Amino acid sequence: MENHIKIFDTTLRDGEQSPGCSMNLKEKIEIAKCLERLKVDIIEAGFAISSPGDFESVKTVAETVKECTVASLARSVEKDIDAAWEAVRCGVDPRIHVFLATSPLHMEYKLKMTPEQVIENTAAAVKYARKFCSNIEFSCEDATRSDYDFMVKVVNAAVANGATTINLPDTVGYTTPDEMRQLISYVKSHIDRPDGVTFSVHCHNDLGMATANSLAGVLGGAGQIECTINGLGERAGNTSLEEVVMAMRTRPDIYGATTRLDTTQIARTSKTVYNIIGQTAPLNKPIVGKNAFAHEAGIHQHGVLANKATYEILTPESVGVHTNNLVLGKHSGKHAFETRLKELGFELDKEELIKCFEEFKVVCDKKKTVNDEDLEAIVSHNSMAADEDKGYKLDWFSVNTSNFTTATCTVSLEKDGEKFEEVALGDGPLDAAFGAINKIVRPSEHIFSDFRIYSISEGKDTLGDATIKLNVDGKSFNGHGLSTDVIQASIVAYINAVNKLLK
Ligand code: KIV
Ligand code: ZN
Repeated sequence: MENHIKIFDTTLRDGEQSPGCSMNLKEKIEIAKCLERLKVDIIEAGFAISSPGDFESVKTVAETVKECTVASLARSVEKDIDAAWEAVRCGVDPRIHVFLATSPLHMEYKLKMTPEQVIENTAAAVKYARKFCSNIEFSCEDATRSDYDFMVKVVNAAVANGATTINLPDTVGYTTPDEMRQLISYVKSHIDRPDGVTFSVHCHNDLGMATANSLAGVLGGAGQIECTINGLGERAGNTSLEEVVMAMRTRPDIYGATTRLDTTQIARTSKTVYNIIGQTAPLNKPIVGKNAFAHEAGIHQHGVLANKATYEILTPESVGVHTNNLVLGKHSGKHAFETRLKELGFELDKEELIKCFEEFKVVCDKKKTVNDEDLEAIVSHNSMAADEDKGYKLDWFSVNTSNFTTATCTVSLEKDGEKFEEVALGDGPLDAAFGAINKIVRPSEHIFSDFRIYSISEGKDTLGDATIKLNVDGKSFNGHGLSTDVIQASIVAYINAVNKLLK
């Protein structure tokens, strides 16, 4: 019998909890749409009670997504469960995800509850949640440091009151593959009513074993893996979705498991998430790093040319990495542009297509050829900028700089049809440009916490992708800019970040 493993994506909840990874509503919806295209089974869209912003984003994701279950996290208290239900109720097959810690450490020091109280509380919380819907997940937080037989009692209480998914998380990334396999198989085989209950793993990566531990959980009988795109998450992160999914697909002989994912959407989803949080994949990151399919050593290249399977266990195409890099140029028309985007998996609506095509033409004037990486960057920047339509926009700038004078920059910005011009001096052209922008916009005090520029493709005329991260009171605001001129890309990125901060 086919063993279908459900993929529960928690990028928008556990992933977003990691420092520097906060996202605004628009960005969360963008990611939710990618996850829907990827065909994950469940999207955990947030922790509805934690803030009005989180509530709104869970609700909007539930309203937007039609092909996946949308879940909200809730502590085992009525007000959390009420908020979770209110946020997900409009989704298709909504899920409430209730949790309570079961390890001696957490019960004594965090919850200040006796084991008996934890069992009672579990029963009451699941029963309460079940009044709202039938899709209830219960998690024993810190399961891997909990007593197995005690957990059996807690899980019995949850299942008896209507939980249909039981998650045994490795909250602190402490377990090992053997132990995780045993844990799942022990609890599953010792509870009173295992039928109809899906067991789930949720692993953190503190010792670098999250993927291995999740896969071992599958061997122990888990039918759901909780994971995040690019392995984002608290501290060292969660299990990487792309790693567990491709491991199961590459080794059916070991795992005998399938998922319903369209794995060709992995590369695009990964890039979207990295862009939104203002990071790029480490070069050697499995599946999504730039070098994941690069063969540099002569002996490897020779083998791959003779037969790809010599050094390639999965194909770039299977995860949506395109190697037949077609190029377009200034003579390419809208039709060729649209066709190539479709081949790359981008279905744009009319308005988006017009905007991206305009941007494409601007790029063509500066760059001889435009390849797939450039096209992906144009589309992704366009969708990230769409929300900022009402903010400040760059009209023009002029810099004067050398290594023996103070740099000067004049910037003209436009907002709601009005133009604003300022000039500033600075330690280099960007410092001067940012100073001039600040004089116009007057943003609140912020820390300039990160600034990166990387090239989208090869060649001297490549597009520069600039990302700027501003921090205010622990919240980060990422801005992006794309141009063949790196000063322009940086100025646009700064304006983009400031627009988000002003909001
Ligand atoms: O790591 C963890 O234990 C969690 C639970 C809330 C599921 O994220
Ligand atoms: Zn977690």
